Amino acid sequence: MDCKRIIVAIDGYSSSGKSTMARRLAAAAGYRYIDSGAMYRAVTLKAMRLGYVSADRIDADAICAMMDDTSVDFRPSADGQITLLDGNDVEREIRTMQVSALVSPVAALPCVRRSLTRMQQAFGQSKGIVMDGRDIGTTVFPNAELKVFVDAGPETRARRRFKELIDKGENTTYEAVLANVTERDHIDRTRAESPLRCADDAVRFDNSDMTLAQQDEMLMRLFDEAVKRHVD
Ligand code: DC
Repeated sequence: MDCKRIIVAIDGYSSSGKSTMARRLAAAAGYRYIDSGAMYRAVTLKAMRLGYVSADRIDADAICAMMDDTSVDFRPSADGQITLLDGNDVEREIRTMQVSALVSPVAALPCVRRSLTRMQQAFGQSKGIVMDGRDIGTTVFPNAELKVFVDAGPETRARRRFKELIDKGENTTYEAVLANVTERDHIDRTRAESPLRCADDAVRFDNSDMTLAQQDEMLMRLFDEAVKRHVD
């Protein structure tokens, strides 16, 4: 039997652990992993550097024009992958709280979404990818063979994110992280263009009380079933 390579879309709230799940599934399946959130973060970083977005203003026209001249790509590295903005490594900078604080309004701009959606669809052209984000199963790949929607309570997600940031040496508080997670949830859910929502045909699950091993096992089972359904 010859198995088709499929597209796996993993959506969910910020810090729900979807990136870890997606990365581990991609490694186990021999697929390419694409972190679509990193693409929104990279564009936000560029807009910040150019002075097009700050805490109290956003220049939508300038950001839209900037998109014609912006590329985001990934390069494999020893511990996963590195995000490249216009060919340069921005992996560390895009994970800071400064970028997290400004990414949702930038990601709400229709021109940014259109441009990044096109790049994401190009990554999936020959299938064999696992992509995580907010609108992968609804907008980017509405025909993905497997769609998963991951959820966890805001406090659980903020605790995970806080630990990650502290481990990386960032100076922040749990309260600031929780406020950022809650604010991003709200903007992601209520924006007009491609709001975060669970696709009708997605498998939804809450991983608050699941171990990594349990998540891996569940996702691998869903993946094997999806591949079997799409056997030539
Ligand atoms: O997954 P993340 O937290 O790194 O994503 C950063 C931001 O990018 C998030 O607040 C919402 C936005 N995003 C999006 O709008 N659509 C996606 N497919 C992925 C991320």
